[in-house]
Amino acid sequence: MAEQSSLVIPTFDLVLCLAQAVDLVSPLVADHHKRTAQIAYGLGMQMKLPEAELHDLVTAAALHDVGGLTQKDRLVALDFEYQDPYGHSVMGYLLLKSFPPFQNPANIVRFHHVPWLNGDGAVFDGIPVPPASHLLQLADRVAILIDVNADVLGQVDSILERIRAQSGERFVPEQVQALELLAEKEAFWLDVVYLQQLNILGHRLNFKELHITEDEFLGLTNLFRRIIDFRSQFTASHSAGVAAVSDILAQRCDFTPAQCRMIHLAGLMHDLGKLAVPAEILEKPGKLTSQEFAIVRRHTYFTYHLLEPLKVLDLIRVWAAYHHERIDGHGYPFHLVANELPLGSRIVSVADIFTALTEDRPYRKGMSVMEAFQIISDAAEQRRLDPSVVNTLKEHLIQVDQARALAQASALDEYHRFIGTAADLIRQPA
Ligand SMILES: [Fe+2]
Ligand SMILES: [Fe+2]
Ligand SMILES: [Fe+2]
Repeated sequence: MAEQSSLVIPTFDLVLCLAQAVDLVSPLVADHHKRTAQIAYGLGMQMKLPEAELHDLVTAAALHDVGGLTQKDRLVALDFEYQDPYGHSVMGYLLLKSFPPFQNPANIVRFHHVPWLNGDGAVFDGIPVPPASHLLQLADRVAILIDVNADVLGQVDSILERIRAQSGERFVPEQVQALELLAEKEAFWLDVVYLQQLNILGHRLNFKELHITEDEFLGLTNLFRRIIDFRSQFTASHSAGVAAVSDILAQRCDFTPAQCRMIHLAGLMHDLGKLAVPAEILEKPGKLTSQEFAIVRRHTYFTYHLLEPLKVLDLIRVWAAYHHERIDGHGYPFHLVANELPLGSRIVSVADIFTALTEDRPYRKGMSVMEAFQIISDAAEQRRLDPSVVNTLKEHLIQVDQARALAQASALDEYHRFIGTAADLIRQPA
């Protein structure tokens, strides 16, 4: 059995990386999560929250709409009057709570659209609502009211007026008072608009490093995978398939057990940048236009870029983000050539194509293993894919396909359970 080492991950870098990934879903409101985190931080400091509570609040704020999986979900939540206490809040809660260190932020996110109702909103569906949820709601709504293209200080009075009008009914009066006091400081508003470098916020907060075992790390990677794949039932199991195929090919290419675990993680995260591709395009039942394809092509660039803050993941990032590079230099987005592409990247490339061809897509059923292999083998002959990896695939074709099918079936099952649990939570009587 392989050694169980622990990984040290700077918690805030992780939150930052996820927040940036989440912000990619709706470029129209880029940086909404960063701004909400900044406002929540100001409010938390103003209310003198203990350090641990402040950290949970800021983490929740940086990720609060993670459950809004499509651009449409996101846009409706950005209407100031949006008041649905279920929907994306419940989805976000379920996603985040699967990673134990995010348990508290998950609980905060769950209730971030519950109105105060003059005190009745302290409990929702029989569950006590954390005060931080109400504070997050306030931070979120303030963030929405700011027009970042105009001078922010000139907007303070009108923003306060709109918030004040719903104090008691929607917002907690003591929290609104904290906002009124904080609002006197120009620096607070200027930070929200100009302090886009969230890592500065990280320094101010003095977040601790997170020591996590590799098993816990797998849980974290699964969180990333769900955020990527659960946007549509057609992609719900893609990354799990790529991970399983990469893992087994790596084993057959004599990777060590530790390296195999890493390539498994690279497979789970390879399409992280797909968050920048609207679900509407991912689900399109037919051929993409050249414009749509150009949008899809951005995704590996974003996978590379989003994981950059997490230095401990450097190798995983390279294996994951180069999966559309080709050894003849005609891949994207970096146009690397053979000697710049490590074996791990070449394996993930083959695994990605094999999985994509054999799985069902919105517009077609999956191909047979032999048909898929023929396409891959042709690509190897044209020196686009690594012939030695493709040869390994050929030798273990049936076993690889079984591993893929099994991994994808269980991921799909998990997706349906996730949707089912969300539906149950939403059906509870209010
Ligand atoms: Fe929200
Ligand atoms: Fe991809
Ligand atoms: Fe992929």
